[in-house]
Order: sequence, then C-alpha cells, then structure tokens
Amino acid sequence: MSKPAEAIAAVTQPDVKAALKSSWGLLAPNKKKYGVELMCKLFSLHKDTARYFERMGKLDANNAGSNRELIGHAIYLMYAIESFVDQLDDPSIVEDIGRNFAYRHLKRGIGSKSFSVILDTLDQFLGDSLGVNYTAEVKDAWEKLVKVILALLDDEKK
Ligand code: HEM
Repeated sequence: MSKPAEAIAAVTQPDVKAALKSSWGLLAPNKKKYGVELMCKLFSLHKDTARYFERMGKLDANNAGSNRELIGHAIYLMYAIESFVDQLDDPSIVEDIGRNFAYRHLKRGIGSKSFSVILDTLDQFLGDSLGVNYTAEVKDAWEKLVKVILALLDDEKK
C-alpha cells in the first residue's frame, strides 16, 4: 500500500473516525473563535510562519485576531477541516480533497516539512480548546489526519 493509502486507511478506522467527529463537534459551532485561536497558536509557536501570510499585513499572535483578512482565512480553514471530517466515511473523497488541499499548499511553497509545524500547534490548540475531552484517542486521531496531509504533500510534489 502507498503511504497516502496507508494514512487514509488509518484515519478511516471506526474508532478514529468517531474520535475526530466527536471532538470536531465541540469546535465546529465556533469556527471564528477557534479558527483564529488556531492561527494565533501557529504564530505564537512558529513565529516565522507569519511571513507566509504577509499579503494580509504584518501578523503575530497578538494582532491576528483583529485582522479581517486573517479572520476570513481562519474561518475558511475551519471549513476545510470540516470537509475532511464530514467525508471520513468515504476514503476516496478524503483522498480527493486531500490532494486538492496539498496542491493549494504546495503552490504557496508549503511542503510536508513546512506543514509539519501544525503537529505541535494542533496538539496545544486542541489541549487548550477541548480540555478534558482531549483524550489520548482524540490526540492520536488528529495526528492521523495530519499524516494524511503530510503523505499527500509528499506524493503531490513528485
Ligand atoms: C490545520 C491545518 C491547515 C488548514 C486546515 C489549512 C487550510 C487552508 C485553506 C483552506 C487555504 C485556502 C486555500 C486556497 O484558497 O487556495 C489555505 C491557504 C493557505 N495556507 Fe493553510 N491550512 C493549514 C495549515 C497551514 C500551515 C501549517 C501553513 C504554513 C506553514 C499554511 C499556509 C497557508 C498559506 C500561506 C495560505 C495562503 C493564504 C492566503 O494568502 O490567502 N497553512 N490554508
């Protein structure tokens, strides 16, 4: 099995899907709040990533929440996550949207190495946002979703 196929098989296991769907259900109703918090966490843990978003202005963890373009991006980002979570019952659609997602990041110069800053960012963001609901199973499930993206970023780059 190819690396993307293995990663997609792992994220579409019933227990993994259930952990993603239930934890996402706690975040999805507040896309603006959580999307902005995720971006602020990215800028606070990985300050250098702000340069990718230069067209929106000079961003950092303190001012991102009041930048209208960044807020728009943050909400859009949450819908992108939702599209993965909503399609977990169909592995071939997960691959289709994952390849499109990978292409859109690769064309901005973001390959798997640059994208992997999301691993500790998501870990801390989910810990802060989900509190006691951030169980070991939930952590593992989100890592599996990121691994799908990382595998597709590598695959699309070929
Ligand atoms: C949870 C992880 C992430 C999600 C769900 C996400 C989602 C998205 C979406 C939906 C877009 C719009 C794509 C388009 O319209 O072509 C986008 C654009 C972008 N993403 Fe991501 N992204 C994530 C992580 C990252 C990371 C880790 C970086 C940088 C290291 C990054 C950098 C960018 C950049 C620079 C753009 C273009 C922004 C603009 O100028 O409008 N993303 N992202």
